[in-house]
Amino acid sequence: MFVRRIAVVGTGYVGLTTGACLASLGHRVVCADVDALKVARLRAGQVDILEPGLTELVAEGRAAGRLEFVEGARAAVADAEVVFLCLPTPMGAGGAADLSAVESVARDLRAVLPYGTVVVCKSTVPVGTSTRVAELLGREDVAVVSNPEFLREGSAVRDFLHPDRIVVGSDSPTAAERVAALFAKLGAPTVLMDAASAELVKYAANCFLAMKLSYVNAIAELCELVGADVSAVTDGMGHDRRIGQSFLKPGPGWGGSCLPKDTHAMVRIAESVGVDFGLVRSTIEANRRQQRRVVDKVRDAVGGVLAGARIGVLGLAFKAGTNDLRDSPALAVAELLALEGATLTAYDPEVRRPLPGMTVVEDAYLAVRDADAVVLLTEWPEFRTLDWGRAAALMSGSVVLDTRDHLDVDALRRAGLARHGLGRRQPAAAG
Ligand code: UDX
Repeated sequence: MFVRRIAVVGTGYVGLTTGACLASLGHRVVCADVDALKVARLRAGQVDILEPGLTELVAEGRAAGRLEFVEGARAAVADAEVVFLCLPTPMGAGGAADLSAVESVARDLRAVLPYGTVVVCKSTVPVGTSTRVAELLGREDVAVVSNPEFLREGSAVRDFLHPDRIVVGSDSPTAAERVAALFAKLGAPTVLMDAASAELVKYAANCFLAMKLSYVNAIAELCELVGADVSAVTDGMGHDRRIGQSFLKPGPGWGGSCLPKDTHAMVRIAESVGVDFGLVRSTIEANRRQQRRVVDKVRDAVGGVLAGARIGVLGLAFKAGTNDLRDSPALAVAELLALEGATLTAYDPEVRRPLPGMTVVEDAYLAVRDADAVVLLTEWPEFRTLDWGRAAALMSGSVVLDTRDHLDVDALRRAGLARHGLGRRQPAAAG
């Protein structure tokens, strides 16, 4: 394998994982960020992102002299053969991706990229961005390649090192092959294509996943009404290899840093070429409906009126294994509950800071104390092993709404609590 000199611009979640993993494959990697404090912390080995294995990989890379951190993109690219852009592309006005960070770095690097460098867009960007970056760079000798990332928070390192596939797209096949070669050691299926196709793959995949989840949440609602059990239905569906078992669990709605942003961006991409992507629009709307459905269930659990009700909230992160609150369905549900006048006391093992509309407490028992009802919104393992007898004694009411099908029904029943959930005919009786 060729060892390459690589620059990674942006040390957020994707950039840091990419940099540390590329270093672990043997490449020499310089990571850059505009945030001086972040760079100083990384130089001291401090990783602020909660991601299994990442701190260790950063330490390993630094110890081996293969991973460095510098301030500013220009400092990182001086010696680079390949430059990865791992910059934020947040949801901008109207739902389209905001490309200002990518564009400003491209302008900044125009004059300083070494001859023949390959620039790789790893950020999720709309179709046509590679062409736009190439224009901004304005360098005949520099090729632009799209290499979308498919990392999940909480398993990013594993996803990087054991990918289902690697997608590399460029209008310069030689540049695409150079980028694909960086990952050769992973032995993963590699799909080479043109730049526009590669840019669309990420959106197409994430919208499909969101659609799958909205679909399953809708099936859960149907199950409640027709007297079926959603876990049996999804199990039965999932054995069909064309469907698969994963991403079939109902919940309080999907969230996080990617699916909400990418579904909105896809609608805008389609609009920009005169297409109304109704399927994706409905997927987004069904997700809002799911959050409202959870609120309806909490309201039912406290006798029909949320105003003045005390609700214990278990979990705030958008899924377990992360401290990320971006577009967390838990926060969306909490906001709706607070709007109706409920008093919220919330606990999440990884979120300890104050948040508007609720009191964030230090442990789960404090969250359930005096609660008229408890709602579990994030599937943290520690919620399964709570002492539910103790929780029941602290609670004022007796209903726990488990939106993730996460808790041990028998343990709750033994504690005298009624477990309400999603996608089941009726809640298990208490007592
Ligand atoms: C996602 C994609 O999976 C990843 O490929 C892409 O690169 C980034 O976006 P991530 O946002 O980390 O990753 O979260 P993911 O694990 O995919 O979960 C997304 C949301 O769906 C979460 O809110 C999660 O709780 C929810 N979910 C997931 C369900 O409700 N049920 C499921 O069965 C799976």
